[in-house]
Amino acid sequence: MKKLVNIILLIAVIYYASRLIYYMECQDLPKVAIPKDRKAIVVGATSGIGRQVAKELAKEGYTVGLIGRRLSLLNSLKKEIPTKTYIKQLDVSKMDATRDDLKAFIKEMGGLDLMFISVTAQGDIGAMKSTAKLGWEQVKKLVEVDVNGFWVCAHVAIKQFENQGYGHLAGVSSILKINGAIAAPEYSGAKAFVGRYLDGIRNRMMKNKMPIYVTEVIPRPVDVERQKYSDEKDLFWVTTKEDAAKQIVQAIRHKRKDVYISRRWRLIAWLMTVTPDWLYRKVFP
Ligand SMILES: NC(=O)c1ccc[n+]([C@@H]2O[C@H](COP(=O)([O-])OP(=O)(O)OC[C@H]3O[C@@H](n4cnc5c(N)ncnc54)[C@H](OP(=O)(O)O)[C@@H]3O)[C@@H](O)[C@H]2O)c1
Repeated sequence: MKKLVNIILLIAVIYYASRLIYYMECQDLPKVAIPKDRKAIVVGATSGIGRQVAKELAKEGYTVGLIGRRLSLLNSLKKEIPTKTYIKQLDVSKMDATRDDLKAFIKEMGGLDLMFISVTAQGDIGAMKSTAKLGWEQVKKLVEVDVNGFWVCAHVAIKQFENQGYGHLAGVSSILKINGAIAAPEYSGAKAFVGRYLDGIRNRMMKNKMPIYVTEVIPRPVDVERQKYSDEKDLFWVTTKEDAAKQIVQAIRHKRKDVYISRRWRLIAWLMTVTPDWLYRKVFP
């Protein structure tokens, strides 16, 4: 028992030391005056985590740009938000058009301070117990939205931030990025891409001493319109989208490197990281 406590203490010390080092690195970055009228774009604002985060950002005073394909939901969200909002109907899987449209949208909004990307094709392809049972078009869609769509939005944001010399990119991955998920290798692969890509951009910005912050949001089950995870017997520690959005916006405010939704999932993430493949295969379906 004492050994276990010591191991947990050691992990906690390493974790807090790395957070402190990251905080000190951030303090070394050049300071820029943040404009009073901050502008954020939320990609995937029509439903789920993105919709709720858009509302929270508006509460923080951001002017928000809302992006998704379902125009009626963009319009209904616009009505719910008291601050200035812009909307853009976009299918992010169409990469070249998305690049051009996003650049024009940023111009229309008069700049960009924060880009929050919360997209997945899961709503289109249905409850995803196993991608092995999905057809070519469905799995292709997952890759086109969760990898390509994510990347093109992040890329446009980073180019904008590099040109203006500051900014904040936040993107949603998943705890399923840690191990190669048996049921959905394409999904866990897509989320591993998101996580690694954000790490790489953060490393590049820190190395180049640019005050461009990158936050990775790593959720486990969050109840959303397309799926009520709290109704599923084998799932635990399910978060509401309202709580998730509050935690995400708090992490963005503090320029955190990453945030688990909810926070206690970090413990499980540590366990998953040290779980050997043979044990993972035994435990997970
Ligand atoms: N909820 C969870 O438990 C959970 C857990 C781990 C990770 N995540 C991750 O969290 C993020 C948000 O998920 P969510 O649960 O909030 O899902 P959601 O409610 O289904 O939201 C997905 C959003 O993506 C947008 N989208 C999908 N395809 C698009 C396309 N081709 N072009 C533009 N927008 C598109 C949808 O808008 P339109 O359909 O209107 O286009 C919607 O606004 C995703 O990255 C997901 O993988 C969620």
